Amino acid sequence: MASSICLLLIGNLVLNFIVPCLTTVSFVDLRDILNSSTSHCSVVFPETALTDRVQQFLRTLADVSFANESTVSFGKLREVPQNWPDGRPLHIQGIVAPEELINTVLIFKRSRQDRSCLLVPDDNFISPPVVAFRLPSQEVQEEFDQTLHRLTEFINGNCGTFRNADGFVNLKGIHRKDILDNLFSTSKSSSADKSLKKCMDASKIINMCMLNDNTISESSTPITIQTHNKYLDSGNNMEECERIEVPKTSNFFHEYLSRSKPVIITGAARHWPAFQKWTNAFLKQNYGDRKVHIKITPDGQYEGVEPISLWKNHQNFSIPESVYRKLPYPDLVVVRPASMEIRFSEFIDFIENISLGLVKNMSAYLEYSSITNYFPELIEDIEEMPFFRNVLELKHLNIWLSDGNTLGKLHFDPFDNFLCQISGEKQVLLFDPHDNSRLYEGHIQEAMLTYNASENVFSREKLLESTSMVMSPVDLLHPDLQRFPKFSQVRPLNCTIQAGDVLFMPSFWWHEVQSRPSSLEHRNLAVNFWYEPFLAREFPCQECGLDVNSRYFHLL
Ligand SMILES: *[C@@H]1O[C@H](CO)[C@@H](O)[C@H](O)[C@H]1NC(C)=O
Ligand SMILES: *[C@@H]1O[C@H](CO)[C@@H](O)[C@H](O)[C@H]1NC(C)=O
Ligand SMILES: *[C@@H]1O[C@H](CO)[C@@H](O)[C@H](O)[C@H]1NC(C)=O
Ligand SMILES: *[C@@H]1O[C@H](CO)[C@@H](O)[C@H](O)[C@H]1NC(C)=O
Ligand SMILES: *[C@@H]1O[C@H](CO)[C@@H](O)[C@H](O)[C@H]1NC(C)=O
Ligand SMILES: *[C@@H]1O[C@H](CO)[C@@H](O)[C@H](O)[C@H]1NC(C)=O
Ligand SMILES: *[C@@H]1O[C@H](CO)[C@@H](O)[C@H](O)[C@H]1NC(C)=O
Repeated sequence: MASSICLLLIGNLVLNFIVPCLTTVSFVDLRDILNSSTSHCSVVFPETALTDRVQQFLRTLADVSFANESTVSFGKLREVPQNWPDGRPLHIQGIVAPEELINTVLIFKRSRQDRSCLLVPDDNFISPPVVAFRLPSQEVQEEFDQTLHRLTEFINGNCGTFRNADGFVNLKGIHRKDILDNLFSTSKSSSADKSLKKCMDASKIINMCMLNDNTISESSTPITIQTHNKYLDSGNNMEECERIEVPKTSNFFHEYLSRSKPVIITGAARHWPAFQKWTNAFLKQNYGDRKVHIKITPDGQYEGVEPISLWKNHQNFSIPESVYRKLPYPDLVVVRPASMEIRFSEFIDFIENISLGLVKNMSAYLEYSSITNYFPELIEDIEEMPFFRNVLELKHLNIWLSDGNTLGKLHFDPFDNFLCQISGEKQVLLFDPHDNSRLYEGHIQEAMLTYNASENVFSREKLLESTSMVMSPVDLLHPDLQRFPKFSQVRPLNCTIQAGDVLFMPSFWWHEVQSRPSSLEHRNLAVNFWYEPFLAREFPCQECGLDVNSRYFHLL
């Protein structure tokens, strides 16, 4: 196609540059729009609305305002259909009567691919949301530039773009780019420059070396869960989390939250009433009668990944072929712990007995249990980080209480997190949200342990018809580097918190958490605040990077 050069003079907006007219705005139909809806936002002008003036808007938007925006496409529509190609009605937000469609521009937003459900067939279409912009009628004497500006803002708001009418990136867009260009990464941090060691950093935690001849040697003594604690104790000089005193809101926002940088705020929870008050005796006395839903495992591992072949009926278990084909690791399962309902006082006795060694081969955990639901009275004994009030939307407030020897396996959470330690210690190994492919993110089938109390045995028989989307298939303790070779390139960050410390764990950082009991109360107790994340991404999706959550564009 030959490209002509045209000079655009748009109302009072003097464009002092020459714009190549490359965009041909052609007629489209709903099939075209649907076909491109996972990658493009479609701005469509019904033919009936195309007066000369409206044609000029269209040309300006396509050739100038959004000329450099690869995710927005423009089209003309012969008529506005009432239905999608499959017969479902086409619903346009804010439009009730057909006559309201006269003189409107329609925006078919990008539709997110449904990554969570493997059951939907590939050719299943998700109809994108449709919104309408009403052009001012002829009688309303609105300046061309003013309408163009409103239309540009409307497209920005619905297509997730950041353009001014003149095509340049707007102020919010500049801030966003600045944030994304300055994200923290362990591989970019200063100590990454430390001289190259023969043993790669990841190998330190896993006790493995890549030898010169590229063969992989495993340490002769296999690491078991029992030696795991000792192993982490051996203190290999893994890069450590930064530690700070309670920061100011704006410092925290710029240095940590918007950079996705983990940090420990030393002693930030130490003054909480909970710190003195929440003894086992106090909890038993005041809340002992409440029923709690607890998780139990034989070895203290929570949500580990293992071969499905260890499960009794794995040969009989069948999931739909189409789902099976989409599983990247069909031979693996995420092991969900067994669970039971018990009285809270009984649970506390139970974890004391476990810690004292009176109960063997058993670990018990009250994990991510909502304080708001279970123990609303306890909320007054804790507080949100003072520098973080009203910054992001609080989604969940959880309590974590266990016998103290638990290992939460490698996964991420789609929340910004403040993890506040009350008793005991947690060694949190963190891996970059950019390391998704090195940690082999993907759907993994789930299974759940069953516990027979009269026999005191756990068994592996319950395979579930669900998948986990946040677990890594790589076992940090015994990584299979033949199968997961890219894992050897990850650089973990060691963020160890003691009672009173608060760890800020930004959304989507992978983490494995080794808990240790407090020597006083033989337990591990923490609370955490989960916030709607400032930086978000689609998952599971190895290539999806973080971006500013559109719910927080107003903060840009
Ligand atoms: C969708 O687009 C792809 C690539 O542009 C094309 O190959 C395919 O035929 C299109 N499908 C439909 C239904 O238009
Ligand atoms: C659009 O992209 C071209 C080529 O990269 C660049 O020269 C031009 O300055 C850009 N225009 C705007 C408004 O950003
Ligand atoms: C992590 O840091 C803690 C405290 O700073 C240290 O005791 C521990 O040995 C470290 N763990 C590893 C695996 O390096
Ligand atoms: C699994 O299949 C085998 C042989 O087909 C059958 O004998 C066995 O009872 C089945 N087990 C379960 C748990 O369904
Ligand atoms: C804890 O151990 C004591 C002493 O052996 C026993 O009486 C009690 O039933 C145990 N409680 C639980 C919940 O395990
Ligand atoms: C605990 O588990 C280990 C390893 O599975 C086993 O050898 C041992 O007999 C168990 N101990 C008890 C008391 O059940
Ligand atoms: C526990 O095991 C015993 C003995 O094998 C069995 O009789 C009982 O039904 C089992 N209980 C449950 C809940 O499966």
